[in-house]
Parts: sequence; C-alpha cells; structure tokens
Amino acid sequence: MLDRNLEIIRAKAGTAPVEAALVLGSGLSALGDLLTDKVAIAYAELEGFPGGGVSGHGRELLIGMMGGKRIAILTGREHYYEHGNAAAMRPALEAMAGLGAQTLLLTNSAGSLDPEVGPGELMLLADHINYAGMNPLIGEPTDRRFVNMVDCYDPGLRAKAHAIARRLDMTLKEGVYLWYSGPSFETVAEIQMAIRLGANAVGMSTAPEVILGRMLGLRVWACSSITNMGAGLSDEKISHEHTKSVAKTGAQKLERLIPALVEEI
Ligand code: HPA
Repeated sequence: MLDRNLEIIRAKAGTAPVEAALVLGSGLSALGDLLTDKVAIAYAELEGFPGGGVSGHGRELLIGMMGGKRIAILTGREHYYEHGNAAAMRPALEAMAGLGAQTLLLTNSAGSLDPEVGPGELMLLADHINYAGMNPLIGEPTDRRFVNMVDCYDPGLRAKAHAIARRLDMTLKEGVYLWYSGPSFETVAEIQMAIRLGANAVGMSTAPEVILGRMLGLRVWACSSITNMGAGLSDEKISHEHTKSVAKTGAQKLERLIPALVEEI
C-alpha cells in the first residue's frame, strides 16, 4: 500500500522529498491556501487515506511550498470515532514519512479547560493523556510498537513556536491535551474529571497521530485552536457548527504561526 501511494504521489507532485507534513483539524482546512506551487491529490486516489466523512475537514493531500520549504498538507484527518480504528491515520502518516518528512505538525480544534485560554486562542500541546484508552499500535507485530513517549511533543519545536509567538506578539500558552474518543462531547462531570487529571484541553484526535508519528521517527509538534470552553465551564452551547465557525479565528493565528515555524525547522 505504501509503495503504491508513494508512486501515485510522486507521479503527480514530483520526486523531490518533503521536509514536513502538516495535518489540518476541524475548520482549519483553509490553511492549505498558504501553500504556493501546489499540487492537490484527492484522498480517494490514495489507499488507506482518510475517508473524509467529517464536515469541516478537507479531502485532499496538498504538496507545495511554505516558508521556503517543500511540505505536504493533509487537509483533513480520520478520527477514531468514525469507525473505531485508532490507527486510521497510519497509511497517510507512513506516506508522509515515505516522502521524506522528518517533522509532523498537527493541528486540531479543542475545548479549553484553562480559564486563561478562551475561544479563538491557540494552545500549544506539551503532552497528552490518552483517556480514550485506544492505541494505534495495537496489532503492530514488531518491537517498533514500544514507543517511548517522553518529550513526544518536541521540546525544541515548542521553544521555537514560543519565540515566534513572542515575535508576532501572539499569546501562546502550553497545555496537556486529553484525548476523549467522541463523537459526543464530554459531560460536565467528565470535564471536571479531566481538570483533576491535569488536562488543559480536550479533543477527539491528535494523540493517536502523535503515537504513530513517534513510531515513524518523526519530530512531532501540535497546536490546538480553542473553539470553546469545556462543557459546563461557560454558558456557550457546544456544537460542531460552533466548532467550525470559531475555528476560523484560531486558523488566522495558525496562518501566521505555522509558516514562520516551517521556515525554522
Ligand atoms: N471537546 C472535545 N472536542 C472538541 C471540543 C470539546 O469541547 N471542542 C472542539 N473539539
């Protein structure tokens, strides 16, 4: 599957390696417009790529230039909650590594548990809690499955992102992301539990991709676009429609942060 996917991608986009891969979360697919000289390949043409079943997510792989570097963008992801497959992103991420990517940049929309980081703000991920309890490496037969997760959110890339945010006069706090399976949002009691467990944000993605990325030897960086406060922490009503519309504010910040980061990787 991997060789066939690489063949199709290289035939369309050329054989030059990419330096990084960027995954776009809910409501963030407009970030694909930042690429210049880009080639688009529909996920449907590639084996094992996301089925594209969630509104607000793109359905194509883009390859082009950003921040002076050749990168690949996955404009939408597949989530565990769609089919119960925690390894849904494995074929796409293996293709990214196969194209030469050494860095994996992940974005998502998330609910905040930190009163200082509200809707429209970004939260850089420093660590995660795999509360969904599923692991994309279950079934992996080799010793590659025993991935060390210490510093899995690359400290060097986090430091770079903070320096860039300061330069851009952008507030950027760090936090721990708790992966909740979804697709229902959390209950008020679950949010209170997440706070007590030490989480600062909750979301339905990303953690399995971090695990896969580390297994593939990629340096991983992840940033949440906060679309709402966790259930019960504010009066605002949580919904997917709301997520998609507020994600635009965070997207504008990511549009400034990510190209600057790509320039420095
Ligand atoms: N919970 C889980 N996932 C989310 C949320 C949330 O509150 N907001 C956006 N994605």
